[in-house]
Amino acid sequence: MGIKVNKEGNIFQINTENSTYLMGIAYGKYLGHLYYGKRMEDMEGQYLLRVKEDEAGINWHRRDKITLMDSFYFEYPSWGVGDYRDPALRVRDEGGFRVCELEYEGYEIKSGKPCLEGMPATFEGGEAGQKAQTLEIILRDALLGLKVLLRYSIFEDSDAIIRSVTAINEGTQKLYLEKILSASLDMDNEDYQLFTLHGSWARERRITGRTVSEGKHIVGSLRGETSHQNQPFLALTTNGTSQTSGDVIAMNFVYSGNFIAETELDHKDGIRMSMGIHPDGFEWVLKPGASFTTPEVVMVYSSEGLGKMTRTFHSLYQNHLICSKFLHQKRPILINNWEATYFDFDDAKLLSIAKEAKKLGIEMLVMDDGWFGKRNNDESSLGDWFVNEEKLRGGVAVLAEQVHEAGLKFGIWFEPEMISPDSELYRAHPDWAIQVPGREPSMGRHQYVLDLTRQEVVDHAYESVAKILRSASIDYVKWDMNRPLADVGSFTLGAEYMGEFYHRYVLGVYQMQERLMQEFPDLLLENCSGGGARFDPGMLYYSPQIWTSDDMDPIERLTIQEGTALVYPLSTMGAHICVCPNHTVGRETSMETRANVALAGTFGYELDITKLTEEEKNEAKFFNQQYHKYHDLVREGAYYRIASYRENQRYDCWQVNSRDRQEVLVTYVQVRNEPEQRSRRIRLQGLAPRLKYQLEGTEEVYSGEMLMNAGYLQEMMYGDYRSRLLHFTAVESLN
Ligand code: DGJ
Repeated sequence: MGIKVNKEGNIFQINTENSTYLMGIAYGKYLGHLYYGKRMEDMEGQYLLRVKEDEAGINWHRRDKITLMDSFYFEYPSWGVGDYRDPALRVRDEGGFRVCELEYEGYEIKSGKPCLEGMPATFEGGEAGQKAQTLEIILRDALLGLKVLLRYSIFEDSDAIIRSVTAINEGTQKLYLEKILSASLDMDNEDYQLFTLHGSWARERRITGRTVSEGKHIVGSLRGETSHQNQPFLALTTNGTSQTSGDVIAMNFVYSGNFIAETELDHKDGIRMSMGIHPDGFEWVLKPGASFTTPEVVMVYSSEGLGKMTRTFHSLYQNHLICSKFLHQKRPILINNWEATYFDFDDAKLLSIAKEAKKLGIEMLVMDDGWFGKRNNDESSLGDWFVNEEKLRGGVAVLAEQVHEAGLKFGIWFEPEMISPDSELYRAHPDWAIQVPGREPSMGRHQYVLDLTRQEVVDHAYESVAKILRSASIDYVKWDMNRPLADVGSFTLGAEYMGEFYHRYVLGVYQMQERLMQEFPDLLLENCSGGGARFDPGMLYYSPQIWTSDDMDPIERLTIQEGTALVYPLSTMGAHICVCPNHTVGRETSMETRANVALAGTFGYELDITKLTEEEKNEAKFFNQQYHKYHDLVREGAYYRIASYRENQRYDCWQVNSRDRQEVLVTYVQVRNEPEQRSRRIRLQGLAPRLKYQLEGTEEVYSGEMLMNAGYLQEMMYGDYRSRLLHFTAVESLN
């Protein structure tokens, strides 16, 4: 595979199929970054360390140490020795000193890829069994006795490089890790544009771009979860980069808590790009002999624009991250009762939905929030995970059986990390809620968050969920989390360890999800966080799908799903047909457009199916058949973004190609009709140029090269919010 070291042992080369990453040792001790870009076989990039410039005195002012430190391209920069850019590592010793100077000590190349204890991580294998290789570089601060292991892994089928870092205290005093990022990348600025993903509740992951300019640009979360607001994703692109051309360097974080993603343009036009656990509120105590490992950052380089970057993330996550056995299976078409009933339901209502749903070809009923304790609104009962028998006579097991008898699978909602002040659990264990003694904890959606840094709380929360799952035949769980963390503190951690709180909380969540996967391997898990506040690679490790957003309006979803699919596979995006008018924005749209947009995700319904007209029910039947017809392609195919409504304000278009390029599905949404316009030219991507493709339902046949270069002509449709699926199948070869 692709990791090599030159014979002098001072240049490291990591080659994936299309990219090369080079590091080198300068002055016999500093590990510097040399190159990340198009694949090269030549690894003699020593000159890129710019040592000669110093020695020749060209940059005479760099002869002293701090000016050198201030501009050297460090592979893993540390705080305190004259590099004034934001560091990846800041360590405090018992004396309160924060100076750390990492020097190169050695390396090891290993076959395979290590797991990270207690955390999600990419893994070797996947369905096709592809192999991995790992380079470990050892750095050391001899005075502190601190060993730092930089880890770089690659897979034979991927252009991604996976990075993580382990700090090991081999000294005799306690060390305090105030900041320890997973990846940092120093390089020359090439007039980069920076792309990030931002939003809010019901408006998640909108793509935002700007030119990189002097100073720092920080994206992050301090909410204890990934957040609606920001994604742990950064992409730097050269000027003019499009979906199909231009250079892209991107990072994504396999983590579900506080994160920082930063770019810093320095005074000499160098750029530092970094990602990891957010240092604010973080401090990890490293006793002698102890170690700390960071979560992983995935780095991707593409010389073929954003589209290639996207497909690299998608296939990495599908082949090497998502563990669920459902990953490559067609998911059951589900109907969720949340927007149909909110809290106002009982078993009879749910069964009437299930029976009607069955007639239309829906395959699973999901009972959402409100089935437990005395929860008739969002002001009580979180933590009291026992059934409300006034709503479900006979309990969950009986309802599950009835739903199964009606011919559907059965799913259930939990919010295991939360506790309502009005709950039996809170009355018994008020100290289990995250809080600061003597301070009234802040409420969010009338609830507190459980202190998952405590093992007995994790055990109790897990057991509450598991008990229900053991007691009934349940096929699916929706795991929700409806508020961020605040008033952070634990009664048991102790003052010295309070800085470990946020990370320990995330480890508690991961532990529960891991146990769930192990104990219930046949359970389909969908993560959710008040919509899409925890849509990240960390959660994808455990659940093959995540609820994308509470906003199901198909027009709002265009932008949300475009941003989500920039990084995450279509097979992971929870997407449903909503009620009309939509509850979030009040927009009226056809069921066809709602269905066509939901088809880009896992597909399902969130409306009261018993209230549909006969005509709507027939439509639903048709769209369910359509799902079965196309969903293998959508789930397994390669995704291409053709046009963006966010950019053009008129229409949206994406495409999925089967891996063998024999079949293509294009989704076109005309958001706004315009009079007196010619048909719109849609240039497809990734087809076989010399194959001829027939458009389903017509006699029209086009060559791949014609569709890609000249394009397909989509005529204007009468009305707004119209949509169309174009399904092409290869029929013959041009030669
Ligand atoms: C937020 C979720 O995103 C919704 O789908 C629903 O499950 C509610 N929580 C229930 O409280």
